[in-house]
Amino acid sequence: MISPKGKTALITGSTDGVGRVVAEQLGKMGARVLVHGRDRERGEQVVADIKRTGGTAEFLSADLAALAEVRRLADAVRATTDRLDILINNAGIGSAGAGRQTSADGHELRFAVNYLAGFLLSYLLLPLLKQSAPARIVNVASAGQQAIDFSDVMLTRGYSGSRAYCQSKLAQIMFTVDLARELEGTGVTVNSLHPATYMNTTMVRRAGVTPISTVEQGAEAILNLAVGPALEGRSGLYFNGLREARAERQAYDAEARARLRALSLELTGLRAGEKV
Ligand SMILES: NC(=O)c1ccc[n+]([C@@H]2O[C@H](COP(=O)([O-])OP(=O)(O)OC[C@H]3O[C@@H](n4cnc5c(N)ncnc54)[C@H](OP(=O)(O)O)[C@@H]3O)[C@@H](O)[C@H]2O)c1
Repeated sequence: MISPKGKTALITGSTDGVGRVVAEQLGKMGARVLVHGRDRERGEQVVADIKRTGGTAEFLSADLAALAEVRRLADAVRATTDRLDILINNAGIGSAGAGRQTSADGHELRFAVNYLAGFLLSYLLLPLLKQSAPARIVNVASAGQQAIDFSDVMLTRGYSGSRAYCQSKLAQIMFTVDLARELEGTGVTVNSLHPATYMNTTMVRRAGVTPISTVEQGAEAILNLAVGPALEGRSGLYFNGLREARAERQAYDAEARARLRALSLELTGLRAGEKV
């Protein structure tokens, strides 16, 4: 691994699950870690654990189910650090749950939290990442992927938690492919991955699935993209664990990606001056 000593890393959703393990490991390796989640008490516990092993960490809270909170998180990051070397968009909601839910902005909840929040956060933090280059963005997606039906992205018909989860995860991968092209020559790379199958986390337990992987396995795959030497200068890729892999077909459909991008810009209200 490339030592992250002296580097700053933001890991969204690091109050629990695989994000927490990644935050702790980056802290142990010497990175300054920005821990993120909704629950301050658990966030401060992760910060304390990182400090106990000699690391440096701060907690930033934000509910990614509101775009205004995503903007507030980006402001808080800028107020906390003048460099950002690693951004890991990891926070997510699984497929379990009753019926269709919406975000504070009225968007289908999994699309909003798992995908749109990371889309907006990445753009808002790009100036900081570019000025810290070489820098890396890692989008924690999943092997569970489903093509987006552009006539009903908000899933008002035929909703299921699994479909909502899988389309949000493919959206992250499509965004990765697009953003990598846009970032060519900037020194900022972006890759996505399926960390591991059914890790023993809250998300998996909530879905009533018996875990078959450890969080450490998933963390290893995420760290490979975040600080692995083999990934230096490589961008726009999708990994299944530690192996480069192919995602669902729609990820390689330029027209579908352009539609998703146009929709995402509209939904997030990203202004021209912010998209640098
Ligand atoms: N578990 C697996 O087997 C598996 C497989 C493939 C991909 N993944 C992906 O890996 C990532 C992490 O999953 P995990 O299994 O570690 O999940 P987890 O244990 O349920 O943790 C999810 C994290 O995301 C945060 N989060 C959820 N909703 C949020 C919101 N609205 N605003 C801010 N933060 C929010 C949670 O914060 P709170 O503590 O506030 O809830 C928590 O820190 C996800 O993107 C998931 O899709 C997981």
